[in-house]
Amino acid sequence: MKKGLISMGVLAGFLFSILIVSGIFAKDVVEYNPAYGKVTFTHKKHAETLKIDCVKCHHTWKKGETTGKLCKDCHKATKEASKDGKGIAAKDAYHKDCKGCHEEAKKANKPSGPTGCTTCHVKAKK
Ligand code: HEC
Ligand code: HEC
Ligand code: HEC
Ligand code: HEC
Repeated sequence: MKKGLISMGVLAGFLFSILIVSGIFAKDVVEYNPAYGKVTFTHKKHAETLKIDCVKCHHTWKKGETTGKLCKDCHKATKEASKDGKGIAAKDAYHKDCKGCHEEAKKANKPSGPTGCTTCHVKAKK
């Protein structure tokens, strides 16, 4: 009986590790590589350590949903192409969300992320 329980635990742990490896959970870090300079977004830190609600960013998901359409499915490179994003291009969507929150936090004298162009976008060293 006890042995059965232990092997159940081992099996559960094994299945859990498959979930992680197969990437059902969100990435820890998302990187963007625009010509202007690389942006490193610590997704896991923002969601788990800073405890920002998923729907604050994933604003079209229902509360409790853990997956769905991503920003660039709706917010495209140009305003004209962003029909599903109400004409808000990707650059403006990210800047409004990312920079917007950091600026608000800074104003409130709370810990904040970068608000300067080249502190968030880091040019590759030559
Ligand atoms: C501070 C903003 C923010 C928060 C909070 C946030 N996300 Fe994300 N998430 C993003 C961005 C940005 C991407 C990258 C997608 C893109 O750029 O189109 C992303 C990507 C994802 C992806 C796609 C897979 C991947 O890793 O690329 C999943 C799944 C996801 N998030 C789930 C969640 C869940 C679940 C929560 C809450 C526990 C959450 N996110 C909280 C901004 C956020
Ligand atoms: C399913 C399509 C869809 C997805 C996915 C989506 N958006 Fe949007 N977004 C919209 C629409 C439609 C609007 C305009 C209406 C509204 O504000 O809800 C919008 C508006 C916005 C705005 C402007 C809000 C304001 O107050 O002016 C920001 C910023 C934004 N989105 C950021 C993001 C980010 C960042 C992501 C990914 C984490 C994302 N969006 C994913 C459709 C989408
Ligand atoms: C709702 C608020 C909020 C949003 C939205 C948000 N951030 Fe942040 N971000 C923070 C806070 C708070 C910190 C400071 C964390 C600390 O000092 O421990 C931070 C820190 C950072 C840092 C500094 C390095 C690190 O990981 O601590 C970077 C870079 C960053 N954010 C990028 C982004 C990008 C890119 C986006 C949009 C995809 C984004 N942030 C969206 C609140 C936000
Ligand atoms: C908090 C982080 C953050 C700050 C601050 C920030 N950006 Fe961005 N920026 C981003 C993210 C994220 C993207 C989306 C990159 C992508 O879609 O690949 C972006 C996209 C861009 C793009 C479009 C790149 C492309 O090829 O589509 C340009 C240009 C840009 N930013 C310039 C600026 C300038 C100029 C400033 C200062 C006024 C600035 N950024 C401040 C995070 C930031």
